[in-house]
Amino acid sequence: MIRTNTITNIDALSGLKLLEDNSIDCIITSPPYWQLRDYEHDDQIGLEVTPVEYISKLNEIFNECKRILKPEGTLWIVIGDTYAGDKNGITDKKRIEFLGQSKIRKRAGKYPRKSLVMIPSRLAIAMIDEGWVLRNEIIWHKPNVMPQSVKDRFTIDFEKVFFFTKSRFYYFNQPKEPMKTMDVNSPRGSKGALYQLNKGLRILNNYNKTVSSKKQDKVGRHDYTGLNDRYITPENLMRNKRTVWTISTEASSIEHFAMFPKEIVETMIEAGCPKGGTVLDPFMGSGTTAVVAKMLNRDYIGFEINPEYAKVASERVGKIIYQHSIFE
Ligand SMILES: C[S@@+](CC[C@H](N)C(=O)[O-])C[C@H]1O[C@@H](n2cnc3c(N)ncnc32)[C@H](O)[C@@H]1O
Repeated sequence: MIRTNTITNIDALSGLKLLEDNSIDCIITSPPYWQLRDYEHDDQIGLEVTPVEYISKLNEIFNECKRILKPEGTLWIVIGDTYAGDKNGITDKKRIEFLGQSKIRKRAGKYPRKSLVMIPSRLAIAMIDEGWVLRNEIIWHKPNVMPQSVKDRFTIDFEKVFFFTKSRFYYFNQPKEPMKTMDVNSPRGSKGALYQLNKGLRILNNYNKTVSSKKQDKVGRHDYTGLNDRYITPENLMRNKRTVWTISTEASSIEHFAMFPKEIVETMIEAGCPKGGTVLDPFMGSGTTAVVAKMLNRDYIGFEINPEYAKVASERVGKIIYQHSIFE
């Protein structure tokens, strides 16, 4: 039996098997990326020899996730890609000796060295084939990405986020973002964008037709300068949140964590988990999912295979719960 608001030092699959059917509202996770890091545990996921083996292990885990997710539940996966060849990102000497250099090289398998393996897409396709509903492919754009030493390709400054649901009918608290002047200033004039907007924009439209016709440029774009006080302008209107999320990474005191920034988890929880619901992270790492869940008044359950990480994560959440209790 797993209690809510605990992080258990257990491998994800065994932990999931202890959870009841249809009991979790939302799953937010980032599995170890293929061939990228060594989490120093024999049952860890990520060091499988081929992408096929890796995806099939993840499939097994996400099938269990489907069983324990409520019918209206949501699942959010952050996942990065790997280049075929070289050491496939494994820098640990002992691990290289253990696996054998030639075997690591072979991991590139049939893929040409230097090619992206397209792991995120392979996982997404496998999951759709297993019956998951893929509602969005989101780009997490990292504006503060470190410069890379590569000279023969571009620096990668994003990761993929997949938003899955268990069925066509699910919990979704529509997130909004502010309209920008440029959203209305399309080359076709403001008509296209105005189409979907409410009364507020109709007022603006009227303004465009009557008062501001003199203030249009050649392609019909309007100048809204000075209107904010008197009229509803694009700046104070909201629109459905889009799928490129620009969120800076946050520094982590422990090198291996590949920690989620809190903002990304906040966005997922607010959109995909009702207040008082339970959020699960089967690859808890440093505990960010649990920390944000508590900050937003949700419960959490976490699994983490590395005992040291599980301890650090529990301590991190403990601090948040303590701070909350002081302010309440
Ligand atoms: C990408 S990190 C997750 C980072 C996390 N999102 C955070 O904010 O810190 C993946 C984590 O999965 C753990 N892990 C690897 N194999 C696992 C398994 N089979 N079961 C549970 N955890 C595992 C690793 O130890 C690592 O902490």
